[in-house]
Amino acid sequence: MTTLLRPTEPPPATAPTSTRRLSSGLVFLRQFFRQPAVLGSPFPSNPRVSRALIDQLDLEGASAVAELGPGSGVVTRLIRRRLAPGAAFFAVERNERLARTLQREMPGVPILHDDAGNVGAIMRARGIAALDCVVSSLPWLLFGPELQGRLLREAAGALRPGGGFSMVTYRNPAMASVRAFRGRMEGVFGRVWLERVVWSAFPPASIYYATR
Ligand SMILES: C[S@@+](CC[C@H](N)C(=O)[O-])C[C@H]1O[C@@H](n2cnc3c(N)ncnc32)[C@H](O)[C@@H]1O
Repeated sequence: MTTLLRPTEPPPATAPTSTRRLSSGLVFLRQFFRQPAVLGSPFPSNPRVSRALIDQLDLEGASAVAELGPGSGVVTRLIRRRLAPGAAFFAVERNERLARTLQREMPGVPILHDDAGNVGAIMRARGIAALDCVVSSLPWLLFGPELQGRLLREAAGALRPGGGFSMVTYRNPAMASVRAFRGRMEGVFGRVWLERVVWSAFPPASIYYATR
């Protein structure tokens, strides 16, 4: 059967760009089923958790900031809005598909497909001497003690004295695994505190800060 199109109508597209290219939120969900222990959660942080992760950091006054585990970019977008023009920023994402998708959504922002354990090497390659802030939403409590310690030392070593670090966990602060992780943070940072619990998250999210 022949379909008649009026001359002004464009030919039917095979599919609009937005449906052919999955958004980072959908990629995040799909990647969770492939790598649950790397992503840690099927859904990105909710807006309150995302804000709580950066509220206590002086991002406006920072010259260099890194984000570990940007995932779908919910926190990345908030960080970028607060950074001064000219401030150095990079985000390190271990999942290649997520890194590529977020890079496409945020052209011009360095979204690096790499490991949080390589922050020092990345800084050297980019000519950054020290970071003012490290924002992390890595699934820290899914990592073993050795990896936790290694990544914490890498993050703390990247910060200038007085620089700030933030992280989130969806586990209860009273749990032994969380207390052990906090102890590891205290081993590498000068000061560590539980800033707040975001009750609107499920399960509630505990936001920790640390300074070097
Ligand atoms: C719980 S998700 C958080 C994503 C996003 N920042 C948010 O708040 O919704 C954790 C992210 O950390 C990434 N990740 C896990 N281990 C990593 C590592 N060693 N280095 C870099 N990224 C890592 C995962 O791929 C995932 O995107």
